[in-house]
Amino acid sequence: MKLRCSDGFRTEIICAPSEADNLSRGDYLLVEEEGVSQLVQVLGSRHLMLQQLDQHLVRELLLEQKAKKEDLSDLSTILDDIKDTRILETFVRGVVYGSVTIRNSTWIPSRTKAKVRRLNMGELSQLIGLDPKYPVPIGRYDGDVLRVDASAFDSSLTLILGRKGQGKSHLAKLLICNLVKYGFKFFVFDLNGEYTKLGFKKDGSPSELHDRIIVLSPGKNFKLSLEGLGLRTLVLLLRMPHLFNTREVSIRAFEVIWKDLASQGRVTLSALEHEIYSRLKKGTLHREIAEALLRRVRTLRDTGLFDENAPPFNVEDLVKHVDRGGAIVLNLSELSQNARKVVVEIFLSELERLLARRDIGPIAIVAEEAQFYTRETYWENLVTRMRHLGISIFLITNQPKTVPPEMHAQADNCFIFNFRNQSDLNEISKLQAIDRETLLRIVPFLDKGECLVIGKVTKEFPLTLRVLNTDIMVMGETRTHL
Ligand SMILES: Nc1ncnc2c1ncn2[C@@H]1O[C@H](COP(=O)(O)OP(=O)(O)OP(=O)(O)O)[C@@H](O)[C@H]1O
Ligand SMILES: [Mg+2]
Repeated sequence: MKLRCSDGFRTEIICAPSEADNLSRGDYLLVEEEGVSQLVQVLGSRHLMLQQLDQHLVRELLLEQKAKKEDLSDLSTILDDIKDTRILETFVRGVVYGSVTIRNSTWIPSRTKAKVRRLNMGELSQLIGLDPKYPVPIGRYDGDVLRVDASAFDSSLTLILGRKGQGKSHLAKLLICNLVKYGFKFFVFDLNGEYTKLGFKKDGSPSELHDRIIVLSPGKNFKLSLEGLGLRTLVLLLRMPHLFNTREVSIRAFEVIWKDLASQGRVTLSALEHEIYSRLKKGTLHREIAEALLRRVRTLRDTGLFDENAPPFNVEDLVKHVDRGGAIVLNLSELSQNARKVVVEIFLSELERLLARRDIGPIAIVAEEAQFYTRETYWENLVTRMRHLGISIFLITNQPKTVPPEMHAQADNCFIFNFRNQSDLNEISKLQAIDRETLLRIVPFLDKGECLVIGKVTKEFPLTLRVLNTDIMVMGETRTHL
């Protein structure tokens, strides 16, 4: 490979077809001189259109290649090689002085002195400063395993984006299984019930993490009682704009009824219903308010989440079960939309309350397709307070337009799998962690299981990886007819 030209931002490299065939988009090269080098990333290639200087460089390149192998007499193969000679288009990611990589250097390599070579994982990790103290193996680069530091996910927002079936959930499972070993405590909002086997190996036997994974299936092995939730949480639910959106006047009436019932005995859904009817009959409750409250009580009953004999809702105790690190998987797969919203809301609000009071240590939340069960502004609000509260957030979606714009700016780590469709590509190009051109030139070409990673995990250098396979029992196969 030979340096063709560089403006310090883009660098073009002339290379023989055999060399180009071994390179992929996203690979890193070093344009090396004595003591200083340019670190560049391949974005694509094109055919060479021969100009005078190119002719000279190509002749040098081919002579070097041929000198290694055969005689120069076979002119036709030389001409074929010239026709197929490529120009690699690369972006400059930094300039390496000794062992220090600087991003904003204006240095450009000499065409006569610089040598170009591909970097392997070890060299690249060293140059970009990936020296994980708490290593998390996530993928392969150039055949070698790339390990990132668990701390890069701590109190951070991590986005996992990509078209259906490309490996987003697979990556999330890999991250969870590795991070729990470092003490991360996860709450997983599992929309498709595909995290329920996190504690099992592919052959169905329990894995080493088995005891650290708690699967709650609301409505089945996890029920709620009104008294166990308490008036504060009920009022919060009634106020939820994306579910009950109750007027204040009705909420005040509800509070009065609840307190009366509590002083007389037990607060249950049936007792509430009965009391609202009786007040309506006696004329002590306005018809409109009574009807609004009755509708909401019935909606709560229809969620199937309530059992008046259920123990108190105690998230603090749940967290204690995963004290050494673990995951509490909330299986939302068999719940109605309303039931999902109720479950997610009570967990999130309770977690926030406990974190704000420092009653529990830091936690991590994994949410798949969060637009289906949380209110629109929820994550934006949470993300702004996340570092203060000690929350790490992992949001996973195949619909990038559901990621609120503010979060494009706030994302600490982005794992981007393949997108082909123009409108999705436009959406992800709003991510501020990475420039639009890199995204558009790499993302549509990623294979299944490959992703572009950028953020704290990669010290802000974009890397393309093949995500590691795992021995976790897979539940998330994308359903097809074939
Ligand atoms: N790196 C990988 N190695 C081995 N298998 C993988 C890898 N990535 C994904 N798979 C497999 O491919 C299938 C689809 O992956 P996954 O469920 O993670 O996709 P997804 O992006 O979450 O899709 P969806 O948008 O439908 O949720 C699964 O069976 C998964 O086990
Ligand atoms: Mg998935």
